[in-house]
Amino acid sequence: MTPRDDAWQAAGEIAVGEGRRMRLWGAGSGAPLLLLHGFPLDHRMWDGQRALVEPGGALFGRFRLLAPDLPGFGASPAPAATSIAAMADDAAALVAAAAGGRAVVCGLSMGGYVAQHLAARHRALVRGLVLVDTRLEADAPEARAARADLAARVERLGAGVAAEAMLPRLVSRERNAALDAPPAPRRAAVEAALRAAIASTSTDTIRRALLALAERPDMAAAASSFDVPTLLVVGADDAITPPECLERAAAVITGARLSVVPGCGHLTPLEDPPAFNAALAAFLEALPHPDAG
Ligand code: MLT
Repeated sequence: MTPRDDAWQAAGEIAVGEGRRMRLWGAGSGAPLLLLHGFPLDHRMWDGQRALVEPGGALFGRFRLLAPDLPGFGASPAPAATSIAAMADDAAALVAAAAGGRAVVCGLSMGGYVAQHLAARHRALVRGLVLVDTRLEADAPEARAARADLAARVERLGAGVAAEAMLPRLVSRERNAALDAPPAPRRAAVEAALRAAIASTSTDTIRRALLALAERPDMAAAASSFDVPTLLVVGADDAITPPECLERAAAVITGARLSVVPGCGHLTPLEDPPAFNAALAAFLEALPHPDAG
């Protein structure tokens, strides 16, 4: 993840639902690929995907990355939405306004829940679906209780608590060992960037998003009627949404392809951009032409 004055092109701010606003960044040119970030991160978690659409990249001249900060996250102003369905309606407004009405939609974890709702609620806008380090199932009661507990602690002690609670479970042990290795240990920098992104999220956004996450419905029945090409990607060591979650999704979503990326945890696109990008590019290259169906 880079500082905010990064290599993304600022692509404006749009009004979405109920007074919410969303800032948007772009890279490359061609068919739109919407990238929806996880909780509580922002568009910079997709920094490693820009190489795909830069000169020499597998998708150069063929895809335009569109990476918003969902309302309340990153540089987008508060308020955040309080349901995943509302986040999906916001993303749909963005596809209508900034992507010519149709996009391949790729989301990680919370972004993956949003992508599922987008496919269920706004099918005509979705050309293909990429669900990364996410799940179809609703939270179990213990997970809901843990979210309520985290929300209460964040309210009392600040967003730094969310960073400390989440960091140990985001990146795989194997990846951390690689980041620790000489000649250029990078683990501290990666952790500092993640900590800064999480800790700079407002407590109100964290509270609203935790509510949305806890109350999201089970999507297995809806996903069984998804009829768009679908790629599922998961880190082999994902501790939050382990490979079994995506295996269950692969059994439910017709024709879905599953890629399990070794050595990655919950942030596969950020942990191993070359491996993630290769899976993504192979999927996108096989899609029917944008003007078809
Ligand atoms: C995320 O990365 O978006 C969160 O881990 C989602 C979740 O907690 O379910």
